[in-house]
Amino acid sequence: MPTRTELKIGWIGTGRMGYEMAARLATGGADVLAWNRTRSKAEPLKKHGARIADNVSELAARDIIFCMVSTWDDVKQVMKGLLEGAKKTPRMVIECSSISLEGSAELRSLLAANGIEYLAAPVSGNAKVIKAGRLSFVCSGPKRAFDDALPYLKMIAPAASYVGEAELARIVKICHNVFLGVVTQSLAEVTVLAQKAGVPRHAFLEFMNQSVMGSTFTRYKTPAFVNLDFKVTFTPYLLRKDLDLGLDAGRRFDVPLPLATATRDLVQQMMGRGWTEQDFATLLLQQAQASGIELKPENVEVMDGLS
Ligand SMILES: NC(=O)c1ccc[n+]([C@@H]2O[C@H](COP(=O)([O-])OP(=O)(O)OC[C@H]3O[C@@H](n4cnc5c(N)ncnc54)[C@H](OP(=O)(O)O)[C@@H]3O)[C@@H](O)[C@H]2O)c1
Repeated sequence: MPTRTELKIGWIGTGRMGYEMAARLATGGADVLAWNRTRSKAEPLKKHGARIADNVSELAARDIIFCMVSTWDDVKQVMKGLLEGAKKTPRMVIECSSISLEGSAELRSLLAANGIEYLAAPVSGNAKVIKAGRLSFVCSGPKRAFDDALPYLKMIAPAASYVGEAELARIVKICHNVFLGVVTQSLAEVTVLAQKAGVPRHAFLEFMNQSVMGSTFTRYKTPAFVNLDFKVTFTPYLLRKDLDLGLDAGRRFDVPLPLATATRDLVQQMMGRGWTEQDFATLLLQQAQASGIELKPENVEVMDGLS
């Protein structure tokens, strides 16, 4: 495999995640040509050394394409735009959005028919986690494709696990995000319970974060829970998508998912209340309302474990 500056990278999708991932590649010295449907969101990548394309089809001549959009329908749409009428096709596509096993398999067939290698490579972590250099990839597909992609994956994230052939990375990511939803709802429930019994949220979470139940996740959600800053890191819409992917997979494999089912309904209730534009951690506010209390920011400085 040539060195990192030899292969030309095409980057599709510079939303919250895609922007920070592409920025790390460009800052690391990779030759990045990025495209985003809303061009203005890609423009600031120029300061990291990337170039911006007007049309997705301009990326077809790149060696490796990374894709980070929202749903399988969106992936399908951008891939169609990439390949339609292309004279030259990329050598490899690395698809990082959280999508279904079925969508991923359809993409694999489409790319194989065009002689393009394909790595399924969804991620764990939000934009702040990427900036902090703590993102992780879970990858599946041909092992050789993974080995070839690894230097580029490592420029974006320190951890990249290879879990096997075909679409296996998709089920790992789906399980991960089902857990994310259930843990967040559970954390909201016990935080409100402790508070209603008289314990300030910062004191409760300080203990939890240092206990055996504390995690990178509980630590980085603590500022939102304590000070009620719900600036979006991950939208309720995307979390509902992932819980639906989990429930679909549960039906396909005959696995009951009672906690995921309840959490999916609670996310839906939250969205039905109109809480769609803030972070999914507003599950806390919904839990407080259901418990008959109104939360106020505690205005206490708390660490997120990342900065
Ligand atoms: N946020 C997180 O914490 C997190 C963590 C792990 C994985 N993920 C997954 O990563 C993916 C991206 O999440 P995100 O938070 O970065 O979402 P986001 O901020 O909403 O960004 C979505 C990106 O996809 C593009 N897009 C969506 N539909 C498109 C279409 N039909 N055609 C072309 N471009 C389209 C958007 O373009 P525009 O700018 O034009 O709208 C934007 O660049 C999702 O699959 C999500 O589930 C997110």
